[in-house]
Amino acid sequence: MSILVKEHQFHLQTDHTSYIFHVMANGELGQLYYGQRIHDQPAFPELTVREEHGAIPAWRLDQPDFQPETLKQEFASLGKGDYRDPAFQITGPDGSRISEFRYQDYRIIPGKQRLTELPSTFDDSDDDAQTLVITLVDAVTNLTLTLNYAVFPHQDVIVRSAQFTNQGQQTVTLNRALSLQLDLPDANYDLLQFSGSWARERHLVRQPLRSGIQSVGSLRGASSHQQNPFIALARPDTNEDQGAAFGFNLVYSGNFLDQVEVDAFDTARVLTGINPTEFGWQLAAGQHFQTPEAVLSYTSAGLNQLSQQMGTFYQHHLVNPRFAQQPRPVLINNWEGTYFDFDEDKLTAIAREAKQLGIEMFVLDDGWFGHRDDDTTSLGDWDVYAAKLPNGIAHLADRIHGLDLQFGLWFEPEMISIDSDLYRAHPDWTVVAPQREMTPGRNQFVLDMANPAVVDYLYGKISKLIKEAHLDYIKWDMNRNITESFSDTLPAERQAEFAHRYMLGVYQLYARLTTDYPHVLFESCASGGGRFDLGMMYYAPQAWTSDDTDAVERLRIQYGTSYGYPLAMMGAHVSAVPNDQTGRITPLETRAAVAYFGDLGYELDVTKCSAEEKAAIKAQVAFYKAHRELFQQGTFYRLDNPFAGDGNVGSWQVVSDDGRHAVAARYQILNQPNPAYHRLYLRGLQPDQRYQVAGDDHVYFGDELMHAGLFVPHLLGTTQGVEASTDFSARVFVIDAID
Ligand code: GLA
Repeated sequence: MSILVKEHQFHLQTDHTSYIFHVMANGELGQLYYGQRIHDQPAFPELTVREEHGAIPAWRLDQPDFQPETLKQEFASLGKGDYRDPAFQITGPDGSRISEFRYQDYRIIPGKQRLTELPSTFDDSDDDAQTLVITLVDAVTNLTLTLNYAVFPHQDVIVRSAQFTNQGQQTVTLNRALSLQLDLPDANYDLLQFSGSWARERHLVRQPLRSGIQSVGSLRGASSHQQNPFIALARPDTNEDQGAAFGFNLVYSGNFLDQVEVDAFDTARVLTGINPTEFGWQLAAGQHFQTPEAVLSYTSAGLNQLSQQMGTFYQHHLVNPRFAQQPRPVLINNWEGTYFDFDEDKLTAIAREAKQLGIEMFVLDDGWFGHRDDDTTSLGDWDVYAAKLPNGIAHLADRIHGLDLQFGLWFEPEMISIDSDLYRAHPDWTVVAPQREMTPGRNQFVLDMANPAVVDYLYGKISKLIKEAHLDYIKWDMNRNITESFSDTLPAERQAEFAHRYMLGVYQLYARLTTDYPHVLFESCASGGGRFDLGMMYYAPQAWTSDDTDAVERLRIQYGTSYGYPLAMMGAHVSAVPNDQTGRITPLETRAAVAYFGDLGYELDVTKCSAEEKAAIKAQVAFYKAHRELFQQGTFYRLDNPFAGDGNVGSWQVVSDDGRHAVAARYQILNQPNPAYHRLYLRGLQPDQRYQVAGDDHVYFGDELMHAGLFVPHLLGTTQGVEASTDFSARVFVIDAID
């Protein structure tokens, strides 16, 4: 049993964690404890102590120490004496914004059901998940609030969401409906957030909490390049290998908010959910509103452990089971190789060469439809561009399939160009507010995904191509954010619903396509990593991590991304040099050594490579395939942090489940003359097992590799040896157990 109920106390117990809350004297829920697993008790008096503080309202005259602001609440409202930011706010028919949701009852459901309209976690395996459903009622508005807690005991994960149901007669407005609140008893934590921009996504930022509200979020209509829904709270002394840390993520791809509020008593309230700015929902009599799910996890064993347990959880309980453990194909994508300049022969030549190199899938990127020669036209016209591909997509697909390669195709379903037949036929399908000019982004505009006719149109177009060209794979891009939020399909009082309804439309299209064409592997993309989130991962098991393919930049991007997401979710490609985003020239070996740690692909015109480069690529692909399971499904460890110190070194490692096989890599950005000594301390090996490191005759014990470390010779040598070494170097270590 992972859900222990005593009177009005609920103890969610996982293998290593406890989450405890109870019904307070006023009938509302109070949080008691979340952290390292503790024994169950009939009561926890030490966790329910109340102290009266000055100048703070109390619940009742005869209960002066029941001061909502000083209590740890489970899912708080504003207006009854708790002045911290609330988890929700509702405007009733009379304009009042007060809610008092009192405990009514609970149910325990075996397993974990999927949500119907939103991406969600699930329990298709035998992981003993249980779901606790708490029902609370506000007597004045006759609204029901159900709080759902799915407990995954072996992953140390709890998934939370809330549902509001209007049992009254009149419509109410949800002004704010977040997914998770967690009140922690102190604020002695660092906040880890993953911030950046286009081509510079998810850089680690770690700062101590301070008094007041600190938050990350998005109002772009996508989870964004700039901030990511994954955050962590870690004790100041927590590092990769030890220490307490909480992880929070949201199964959602639109506007989000993650915030931590440190109050006057140095407690910390964490809130995550749909960003309340740009949100409002009319809840008519009889209707319900379901929030997205929030994933919550705790460990006392450091940040590597936190990433590993959350990542393993997603692979088993969020990602489409058909693909979660399936080897992902090594692909070649023509984007950086050709951009818009291609025809069937050119593409086929690239595909043929790629096949020789061991690559398994060819992906045709942007420019195959309408009359698209640059980014100003044709989005929405998902019919082949006959001037480039006169024989049609199906013909090209046949040639690719004839080479024994899989075939993938790029779409940007949610977008429209003014210069398109679609715009000429349906200008009203474009997102724009009345009497306002449309703001362009990358020369394009956004389709109203809240309009079911748009979703139907896109479903028809994409389905036709899946069938005609026998597509194995779709790269679903989204290259601009939303402006002038408004839908012609919604009445004035429902316009605040637009941003969420847009996401529901995107999810519905994904759901229809993945249900009807289950064999198609989807990769999500939004100008690289602009929608790298769990909502997308539910439908598209992998994502294009960043448009930045420069090895040095990618090291940081993938390192930052790895805190919140497992390697199997990260598309990572080797491209040509000088790099198109940075102009940097890095060795081919280094580019591959970074891209191995993810779903490997190539994104260059391989027909232009020298014989030597082709031989190197062939060897890289063979190496990756030989270790693919490790790279995609192995346990990942961050070793040296490229965001720390002078940022000159980064290293990481993957290990097999049994600890017998590992690949580690160490990257050095700039060579330094006469440098300090470096050692690489491996992780996750069996201490008593003997290992060999490829290219090294010595036999090591696991404990030696982990605690004494591998000596890394400096690569520059002497000034005479410069030609043998360069900046941007990488070394890959293959470690295998020997018996
Ligand atoms: C975005 C994607 C790229 C590529 C281009 C095509 O930028 O991130 O990978 O598909 O669009 O226009």
